[in-house]
Amino acid sequence: MSALTTNRRVPLLDLKAQFEPMREEVMAAITRVVESQGFIMGPDVKALEAEIGAYTGTPHAIGCASGSDALFLALLAAGVGPGDEVLTTPYTFFATAGAIVRAGARPVFADIHPETFNLDPERIPALLEAHPAIKAIIPVHLFGACADMDPVMAHARARGLTVIEDAAQAIGAEYKGRRAGTLGDIACFSFFPSKNLGGLGDGGILTTGDAALAEKLSALRVHGSKKKYYHTWVGVNSRLDSLQAAVLRLKLPRLDGWTEARQRNAADYRERLRKLGAPVALPAVPDHTSRHIYNQFVIRGERRDQLRDYLKEQGIGTEVYYPLPMHLQECFQELGYKEGDFPVSEQLARTSLALPIYPELSHEDIDYVCGKIAAFYRA
Ligand SMILES: Cc1ncc(COP(=O)(O)O)c(C=O)c1O
Repeated sequence: MSALTTNRRVPLLDLKAQFEPMREEVMAAITRVVESQGFIMGPDVKALEAEIGAYTGTPHAIGCASGSDALFLALLAAGVGPGDEVLTTPYTFFATAGAIVRAGARPVFADIHPETFNLDPERIPALLEAHPAIKAIIPVHLFGACADMDPVMAHARARGLTVIEDAAQAIGAEYKGRRAGTLGDIACFSFFPSKNLGGLGDGGILTTGDAALAEKLSALRVHGSKKKYYHTWVGVNSRLDSLQAAVLRLKLPRLDGWTEARQRNAADYRERLRKLGAPVALPAVPDHTSRHIYNQFVIRGERRDQLRDYLKEQGIGTEVYYPLPMHLQECFQELGYKEGDFPVSEQLARTSLALPIYPELSHEDIDYVCGKIAAFYRA
């Protein structure tokens, strides 16, 4: 039977496939931490911070409880608060905009570039003119490819704004040969299980090249204290657990191999979908993207919802990242945006579909998914 007629199941993500080959090591690391009874901070967190610093090429890395908290802590460290505005993209996971509001500031959205899905730098100057209260910019490196950072940094530097990279989906991604995490003033990474480097639950890390910001971030994650029970700032409780750090340290040396497998899968999809003549748009890789880490492989197509339903019937998992841009979310209505304000984001929300791209996916799985996509559009 050919792959196209088999009743295969291809989930969007298969974490068990990653876990099984490392089961013994993971269980041993968990046992080691449990036996030590040292759950908070400790040597594994310190070691992971050093290893992520080396991996991203940043002098300072500070673990925290999630990527969402990393964004919040970064804004606090940058001194963003009530009365301030923060420029970002409406086409992102909620945490990006949510962190701005949690910090007491107001999001100002700029539409994305139609090819990269990332903040369109051409929109920035007019918004900075119209919004003098903007104090920081959060470009998002969506789906594993960096935003066009040189113009973002040039606009920010000209006005003394802080740039916080939302690199939750982009560990190891490179822009003109430079890694995510080194491109702005502070960067935020997530260890949510679906990320390329995922933990056993929530976790996150911040990177920065600035020693003073690093010191402040290290304090802010422990209630703003540099010395136990003495508080310089009002921070939060947002630490990375030792258990998470111990497991993430086992996974980090495997990350490049997994990323390469994702890249091979992406190349396979491109070749197959083109050959089959499937009428879908494939993710663009602009010149500035020197390393795409494919946290997601997102195609665009007509009748997206029907395609998704059809693929589900064929045993294929997909996801829509994201069905409703931030400016149209109920909780942000008071910001005063309306439908039509960001047409590129709105169009993408209607047409984008993420396909399975996880490293353990086989060539036959990809063949099957592509065959079904082509079959849907032929029908
Ligand atoms: C773009 C983006 N920003 C922020 C986050 C928040 O990370 P976390 O889920 O670790 O809080 C995520 C991940 O879910 C994300 O994809």
